[in-house]
Amino acid sequence: MFNAKAYSATSATLPLGSTTITRRDPTEDDVQIEILFCGICHSDLHTVRNEWSDFMPTVYPCVPGHEIVGRVTRVGAAVSKFKPGDLAAVGCMVDSDGSCPECQAGLEQFCRNTTFTYNTPDKHLGGVTYGGYSDSIVVNQRFVLRVPTNLALAGAAPLLCAGITTYSPMRHWGVTKGKKVGVVGLGGLGHMGVKFAHALGAHVVVFTTSASKKDDAHRLGADEVVLSKNADEMRQHAGSFDFILDAVAANHDIGAYINLLRRDGNITLVGAPEKPLPVAAFGLIVGRRSLSGSPIGGIAETQEMLDFCGAHNITSDVEVIPMQKVNEAYERLLKSDVKYRFSIDMASLKSE
Ligand SMILES: NC(=O)c1ccc[n+]([C@@H]2O[C@H](COP(=O)([O-])OP(=O)(O)OC[C@H]3O[C@@H](n4cnc5c(N)ncnc54)[C@H](OP(=O)(O)O)[C@@H]3O)[C@@H](O)[C@H]2O)c1
Ligand SMILES: [Zn+2]
Ligand SMILES: [Zn+2]
Repeated sequence: MFNAKAYSATSATLPLGSTTITRRDPTEDDVQIEILFCGICHSDLHTVRNEWSDFMPTVYPCVPGHEIVGRVTRVGAAVSKFKPGDLAAVGCMVDSDGSCPECQAGLEQFCRNTTFTYNTPDKHLGGVTYGGYSDSIVVNQRFVLRVPTNLALAGAAPLLCAGITTYSPMRHWGVTKGKKVGVVGLGGLGHMGVKFAHALGAHVVVFTTSASKKDDAHRLGADEVVLSKNADEMRQHAGSFDFILDAVAANHDIGAYINLLRRDGNITLVGAPEKPLPVAAFGLIVGRRSLSGSPIGGIAETQEMLDFCGAHNITSDVEVIPMQKVNEAYERLLKSDVKYRFSIDMASLKSE
């Protein structure tokens, strides 16, 4: 075992602070990574504040972070995919049973025995797993991804959650040229959704509560931008969408978006607000519309997404911050004040 520097939350109400954690020495299938950048996902904030207590209560201390890029420093004897010096990335999962039908199908995100990158029982050390707000991590090679070398690392980190979580449902629901696609909420996930829908050739409409993001939305690839508080603007799109991706982190009126779907249209929730969202039955019955959800994506699809980003030169728009600014960044997330993902420069941990 060895020590790693990290930032942790010790309760739902206290700010995150500097700490030292223990990592395992690499077993024969493990890759040890020096973390260079880690994105800040709104899920980190939900978890730190125990907002998902009904579904997955937070165990403290909690070291969040599941948008990890770095450099390989050590590998186990059986590791063939990576060698020291390689770039590597880790997303929301670090292990699964590998044997169930979901794992066999390459859909590890649906395995009942998935080990998430943080806040899940740690099979090796006991306690729970600790995530990427740290200077290093040790992960089974099956869950380590390759980063295309043309991508800037700070902007590549958020692809590991915000990227795959928006790419996967768009591929599943057939987003392509000729489809009208909505993206609700221009935050970390939403802005990646806009980039992917645009790259896949769809007609993209962004729904935002922030008038100040209108120009950016066009720059990111939106064909149209709707201020969702404006009922007239919303009405103009009634019954017209093939697919809508809802990436809002807080309570909002999902019915207003269901009404914008055409016949057989689908709205997929990737945003995971703390409280349930009411749905009117007739919103779905009329037009045989569907509402679904989608969690991250499997390992093979995550690699496919990274390679797609390499080929299309897609990264996240990031504001790079030192680890010491994480609490301030959380407050800004709550005000929708991020353009469009915070990426932590882990070199800042050296001074702790
Ligand atoms: N399904 C999954 O696997 C998965 C993976 C990662 C994250 N998530 C979840 O997805 C959600 C978004 O994550 P994120 O990291 O993208 O968050 P984020 O960067 O904070 O973005 C959320 C965006 O939602 C909009 N918004 C915020 N409050 C709102 C409100 N009260 N009403 C309407 N719109 C509001 C804002 O966009 P505008 O300013 O444009 O309105 C905001 O920028 C979170 O709940 C997160 O936990 C799910
Ligand atoms: Zn995330
Ligand atoms: Zn499995």
